[in-house]
Amino acid sequence: MEATEESLERADMETILQFPMRRTCPWLPPPEYAELRKGPPRKVRLPNGLEAWIVTRYEDVQLALSDPRFSVDHTQPGFPLRIQVPPTPRGQSFFRMDEPEHGRLRRMIMPQFTARSTRELRPVVEGLIGELLDEMAAGPPVIDLVQAFTQPLPTLVLAAVFGVPKADQRMFARMTRAILAQDLTPEEVYAAALEMGDYLKQLIAAKERDPGGDLLSRLVTDHLAKGELTHDDLVAMARLILVAGYETSAKQLALSFLALLRSPGHLAQLRDDPALIKPAVQELLRYWAVSEDNMGKLALEDIEISGAHIAKGDAVVIAIPAANHDERHFPDPGRLDFHRDAGGHMTFGWGPRYCPGAPLAVMELELALPAMFERFPGLRLAADPEELHFLFPNLVYGVTALPVAR
Ligand code: HEM
Repeated sequence: MEATEESLERADMETILQFPMRRTCPWLPPPEYAELRKGPPRKVRLPNGLEAWIVTRYEDVQLALSDPRFSVDHTQPGFPLRIQVPPTPRGQSFFRMDEPEHGRLRRMIMPQFTARSTRELRPVVEGLIGELLDEMAAGPPVIDLVQAFTQPLPTLVLAAVFGVPKADQRMFARMTRAILAQDLTPEEVYAAALEMGDYLKQLIAAKERDPGGDLLSRLVTDHLAKGELTHDDLVAMARLILVAGYETSAKQLALSFLALLRSPGHLAQLRDDPALIKPAVQELLRYWAVSEDNMGKLALEDIEISGAHIAKGDAVVIAIPAANHDERHFPDPGRLDFHRDAGGHMTFGWGPRYCPGAPLAVMELELALPAMFERFPGLRLAADPEELHFLFPNLVYGVTALPVAR
């Protein structure tokens, strides 16, 4: 029988694609996403052989991120974990819990992440940026911006959020980097997680003796002391905030610097109009979509999404970069445009699990990007952008190093 165009198309639709898909160009999400957005969600095969639905359209991603009929409890059979979650020395965090437990624990941290609490941290973040820029100014003229700035800044900010004493801050920063290091063995990472766990326990004990105004002190006074949290819960919560807040912010900072260093036109726009930093940061968040492919869920009921029948027990993977590059929502999505309204991007998720650290991450970016170019107006890339090492596939998209010269 002769193959018609229609039957070929149908055969193509029936082929099970592998997930994760690869970026063919480091500046853009995998090209398959544009094709996938044309139709309803489709099945993909994960590296462990499991099948899962992939959602790619803006509205579908929004629904899958926010609808409680999808579970995030990865201990259930068939859960679409792309990578094995490294064993944690103690306890599970609320990131992998469903309601109502997720909401109960999440509500405990939210008072420390309001717009007001974030504003109060502004002078601290400005101070840390200043210190790191001073260190850069005193160092060699060619450096790796990842080592010198984009990794240390978020770890030091997290240390401030946790109320880590000044004397311990650099050690705390080192431990935070180690628990997520890609160049260490699993044993070394596990050892670092244990070390961090022990340090957090000591820190919590110190806060119990002498509470301050920081996140850990608040959790100790308002919840641990009342028996609403155990010490292990608190350590798991603290570790979640470190894991969720560090690598994402560090990678987003580095990619944002890269975008500006690569495009003098965009940098000039920010110099000419400093108020543009706010939409520019939203656009950089949309464009890069660092929250790459870690969002897996399991359907707790039958759910219909854009014509696809997702059955109870089916796995779903949520392609946030595909939603951020949905042309129906963000026209000409591959173009970095500081004048578009990118505020609806899904880099921080959507709905009841929306990233609590988003205001803090945005403030870091809004302060760090202009401060860097003010201090070093001649800053330029010291490597061919095509030769940079982009981490992909990875839970968080980014570059491993960013050589710059001033
Ligand atoms: C550019 C930086 C960041 C990005 C791209 C990012 C992205 C995300 C995403 C996609 C989620 C998952 C949402 C979901 O499960 O549906 C999340 C959750 C979370 N993030 Fe962030 N994040 C960033 C920075 C931060 C910072 C700075 C903190 C804390 C200081 C933080 C703390 C958390 C926590 C605690 C969760 C779990 C929320 C929950 O399960 O309810 N994140 N983040």
